[in-house]
Amino acid sequence: MKIVHVVGARPNFMKIAPVMKAIAAAGFAQQRLVHTGQHYDASMSDVFFDDLGLPRPDIFLGVGSGSHAEQTAKVLIGFEKVCLEEKPDLVVVAGDVNSTLAAALVSAKLLIPVAHVEAGLRSRDLSMPEEVNRILVDRISDLLLTPSRDGDENLLAEGTPPDRIHLVGNVMIDSLLSHLETARRLGIPERMDLAPGNYAVLTLHRASNVDDPMVLSGLLGAIELIQQQLPVVFPVHPRTRKQVEAFGFDSRVQAMKNLKLCEPLGYLEFLGLTSQAKLVLTDSGGLQEETTALGIPCLTLRENTERPVTVTEGTNTVVGTDPNSIMYEAESALAGRGKGGRRPALWDGRASERIAEVVRAFAVQRGLA
Ligand code: UD1
Repeated sequence: MKIVHVVGARPNFMKIAPVMKAIAAAGFAQQRLVHTGQHYDASMSDVFFDDLGLPRPDIFLGVGSGSHAEQTAKVLIGFEKVCLEEKPDLVVVAGDVNSTLAAALVSAKLLIPVAHVEAGLRSRDLSMPEEVNRILVDRISDLLLTPSRDGDENLLAEGTPPDRIHLVGNVMIDSLLSHLETARRLGIPERMDLAPGNYAVLTLHRASNVDDPMVLSGLLGAIELIQQQLPVVFPVHPRTRKQVEAFGFDSRVQAMKNLKLCEPLGYLEFLGLTSQAKLVLTDSGGLQEETTALGIPCLTLRENTERPVTVTEGTNTVVGTDPNSIMYEAESALAGRGKGGRRPALWDGRASERIAEVVRAFAVQRGLA
């Protein structure tokens, strides 16, 4: 059986790496990796291949940045050629980025079965491009590989046939658990002149936060106050860097003496950093899950989350973008009054093994084993 995996943007790499490894270990030798090139900076892409032991892509589409339509369209055109040439029996996509949607759409139109890793998540906020991508990808995928039970419930409520849904657990946590020790041994806080356990980490890149000057200004206002209490490390996403410059906020950012700006970090460096933080503030999806797995308080700077299990079971609090709410919750967390949490079921480092089992059953059923 020939399997084509698709990656494109930063959050795809740590999801596909353990899946490819587990599928190879299950004896499926014919795997190809396609990189769409949605993310192309070395710090957003190359470093993850090295850190995660992901094989070099067999095919690189080089689509780069653009509007949603341009980016999606370029992947549609490029990936259709790949499918016509490679004739895969199964295409594996992960997460909710534009490359995920485009690759799934091409495959569905060519009648190639699609497996969606991280299926079923819903924020119920259609103003988020990722929510549109999630809904559409799930609707046309054959194997819906969910990270938590809420994913199954969302899919069933939308009328998805139950035999397509497979609760496998969280593959991000497979990557996290297998790299945590190596990451911690790097001594990242010390290298950044930080006391382990006594700094915060900030990430911001969501369009709704960084493309609106009012929202971004409010968020910076909250950070101005938080960095007076403890050092805040801020690896800056390229999109955010551009917007800070475009809105003329550079001087405000530079004036924060306890805000440590850096380039986006690699997987191991970032894990080494977050795993020893006192607090994480973010609008990322994956980081809400990683902090829950690590037991570190997380404040999500968004109005909603597609990962509710990180709130109901984990260490995550959805605080929105109002500076006062952010300050209030940050103070509680820093004073040790934040919520605790536990690791959800099946976030045990073995999700990709369960995916390999689903793939094996699929191969048997199709006579491809
Ligand atoms: C994308 C995903 C988002 C994910 C995020 C993680 C979609 C709709 N969004 O958002 O879900 O959380 O990746 O990072 O797919 N840029 C560079 N270098 C790069 C990549 C991007 O400079 O390597 C800049 C470009 O100016 C580009 C902008 O960042 O226009 C946005 O990139 P894009 O891939 O469109 O979306 P992200 O914000 O990265």
